[in-house]
Amino acid sequence: MSGEQDKRAARATDRPRLAAGAPRRPASRDRIDPAPERPVIVFCDVADWEKAYFERAFVGYPLRFFERPVEEVPAADLADVVVLSGFIRSRITPDLLERMPRLRMIATRSTGFDHVDLTACTARGIVVSNVPRYGENTVAEFTFALMLALTRHLVEAVSRTRNCDFRLAGLEGADLRGKTLGVVGAGNIGVHVIRIARGFAMNVVAFDTRPQPLLAEVLGFAYQTLDELLACSDIVSLHVPGSPATFHLMNRERFATMKRGAILINTARGNVVDSEGLLWALDEGIVAAAGLDVVAGEELIREESELLTAPRADERLRLVLCEHALLRRPNVIVTPHIAFDTREALERIAETTVANIGAFLTGSPTNVVNPAVLSSIAPAA
Ligand SMILES: NC(=O)c1ccc[n+]([C@@H]2O[C@H](COP(=O)([O-])OP(=O)(O)OC[C@H]3O[C@@H](n4cnc5c(N)ncnc54)[C@H](O)[C@@H]3O)[C@@H](O)[C@H]2O)c1
Repeated sequence: MSGEQDKRAARATDRPRLAAGAPRRPASRDRIDPAPERPVIVFCDVADWEKAYFERAFVGYPLRFFERPVEEVPAADLADVVVLSGFIRSRITPDLLERMPRLRMIATRSTGFDHVDLTACTARGIVVSNVPRYGENTVAEFTFALMLALTRHLVEAVSRTRNCDFRLAGLEGADLRGKTLGVVGAGNIGVHVIRIARGFAMNVVAFDTRPQPLLAEVLGFAYQTLDELLACSDIVSLHVPGSPATFHLMNRERFATMKRGAILINTARGNVVDSEGLLWALDEGIVAAAGLDVVAGEELIREESELLTAPRADERLRLVLCEHALLRRPNVIVTPHIAFDTREALERIAETTVANIGAFLTGSPTNVVNPAVLSSIAPAA
C-alpha cells in the first residue's frame, strides 16, 4: 500500500485539471490580506496544486510547504510557526507541540481530528479547526463503491477478465434492494449513506448517540440500539468519529452478535474496529465480507522497517500483522484511505482551510473543535 504522502505527491501528475498549471484561483473572498505582523504559516502533507492554491490565498505571508507530515519537518522550520495546516498523517502530540512554542492555530485539512491531541492544544491555547462538511456525499458514494464491489465480486471479476477468464462460477452476487443496512453514526456522512441506500430501496436502521427523529421520519429509517442494529443488518456501515468512546466499538463480543453472513464496511477510522476481532468473525463466517478504507495501524504499514525500534514495538507489530492478514483475505477489500479523495472534495477542503485560517487571523475562528480554548486566546495578527 503506498502512503498518503506518496499518494498526495503523485497527485500532482494524476490530476490533469488541477496540476496542468490550472489550480482554481481562490475567489477574492478567499484571499486573505496580510496582517501588519505576518505570522508564519506552515503547510504539511501538501501536493503541488495545493501549494499554488495557498500561495495565492495568503499573498505576503511567510509560508512554508512540505510534502511530508509535520513529524518529518526540520525543527528549525517549526520554531517560529504560528499557524500549522496538515492532513491526518500529521499527528499532533504533546512532544511535537514542544517544538512549536509560538503555535496558535492548527487547521487540519480533514473532518476527523483524532490525530490531534486536543487536550494538549487547549492547554496551550492553540485553536484547532477542521473541515466538517467537505465530503459527506464523497465518503458516502465511496461507501457504496465498497458495498457494490463486495456484493457483486467486482475485484475478482475484473481480475479474471484481465486474465481472459470469463467464467461466471463463484461470481453470483446479491441485490442491495430489500436488504437491511445498519448505519452506525448517522451524522453528516451517515445521513448521505442513508439517502443513497433509500435510493437502492434498502431498509435502513441507524444507531447514533444523538438521534434526530425528524430526520428519521423524512429519510424513512429507524433508530435502534447498537445490539438491535447488529442483530438485523445485512450490511453494517461505520460512520462514527474516532474517539475513546468509539475505540474498538466493533470488537469480538459485538461481532458475535451480528447477523450471520453480514458485510462490514468501515470508512470511519481504523481503530473503531478491533482487527483481531474482525479476523475472528471472518474465520467464523459471521462476517461474510468486509470493505475497509481504513484499518488500525494503516499509518504504520509504510514504515515497517522503523517498527522494531519504535516505542511500543510489540503492539505496533501486532497491528501490522493484522493488517497484512486482512489484506490477504479474498473476501476483504482494503483501500488506502481514499474515501475522501475526489477532486471536488479536495477543492472544498482547500477553500474551507483558507477560510478557517483567514477567520483565525482576523480574530473570529471558525469550525473550532476545541471551543473551550476560545476564552483564552487573542487574535494572532
Ligand atoms: N475515509 C475517509 O476518507 C474519511 C473522510 C471523512 C471522514 N471520515 C471519518 O468519518 C467520520 C464521520 O464523519 P461525519 O462528517 O459524518 O461526522 P459527524 O460528526 O457529522 O457524524 C458523526 C456521528 O457519529 C455520532 N457518534 C459519535 N460518537 C458516537 C458513538 N460513540 N456511538 C454512536 N454514534 C456516535 C455523532 O452523534 C454523529 O451523528 C469522521 O469523524 C472521520 O473519522 C473518513
